[in-house]
Amino acid sequence: MDTFLAAVQQRSLAASLPPSEPRDACCEKYKQIFVLRNRNDKAAVDELIALFHSTGSVLLRHEVAYTMGQMQRIDAVPFLEGLLTDEAEDPITRHEAAEALGAIEAPESLDILARHAADAASEVSETCGLALAQLNYQIAKGVCGCERRPQEALRREGLVVDETEEEAAVCSRRPASPPPPPTTPIYTYVSPAPAAKAAPLSELRQRLLDRQQPLFERYRALFAIRDMVPAEGLGAVNALCECLATKPEEESALLKHEIAFVLGQLEHPAAGDALCDAVKREEEHGMVRHEAAEALGAIGSQQAIDTLRQYSDHKVEILRESCWVALMWLD
Ligand SMILES: [Fe+2]
Ligand SMILES: [Fe+2]
Repeated sequence: MDTFLAAVQQRSLAASLPPSEPRDACCEKYKQIFVLRNRNDKAAVDELIALFHSTGSVLLRHEVAYTMGQMQRIDAVPFLEGLLTDEAEDPITRHEAAEALGAIEAPESLDILARHAADAASEVSETCGLALAQLNYQIAKGVCGCERRPQEALRREGLVVDETEEEAAVCSRRPASPPPPPTTPIYTYVSPAPAAKAAPLSELRQRLLDRQQPLFERYRALFAIRDMVPAEGLGAVNALCECLATKPEEESALLKHEIAFVLGQLEHPAAGDALCDAVKREEEHGMVRHEAAEALGAIGSQQAIDTLRQYSDHKVEILRESCWVALMWLD
């Protein structure tokens, strides 16, 4: 579907949609998105688009966009570009569309990302800036999406090593590396930025917290700290929690939502307090509260379950729905 038509259809359908999903329908559709993500074929993209149009839920709509990015399907690009340009769409969904375009790493998206790097919605402008930095980084290394997509398929089959390594010769096929030691976490998702080179934790923490640094560099520090958790344990988790705890008016909601997401990946029990606090902060951005709720679902402690139950009726729709979904995964 061409971009303009997609945008028009989205707008007209969004206007006629019910304001919120009932709990069971929301959880069912969320599960369906995961099924389609694993299928990862052209028909799955079409079904994701149909699912998108069936709901007014920002949680589900942004999850569709996120999933398309993780699938790295070039045939999703026109739909995602339509979302990014549609100012009637929720900024959280538009942010996820921009992030997905960055994850697909299609050089043809550079123009649209550059245009929206000055978008009025900070969630959108910051994400476009990040996606541009990521694309330019990959292009400078000689690996844009054209090479990376088949590379990713090979990686899944174990034929090449993970290309997030700073020095990886990503364009060449290489034999599988030996299995990593058990303490090395394996993240199969496409990050919005590569991890920074290994450095002392104190240095990376400083870079993460430094608001003078470009967001791309702060993201890179975040992923480097994440990768240090097996070795550094609590110190690394605390550095992430410290940034998550920053007052909403003083820190980028985008960075904080990514930290909450990463804490969910890590499933480290020491992050429980910081994630519960993020869920409970009424002045916090819905995007951050949503990721914090889903991360609590991954941690699954009694404290996490109690908080998720407590916020399952909350007036903020994306928070309420995230609590439902997190509790569903725990059942
Ligand atoms: Fe996001
Ligand atoms: Fe999300």
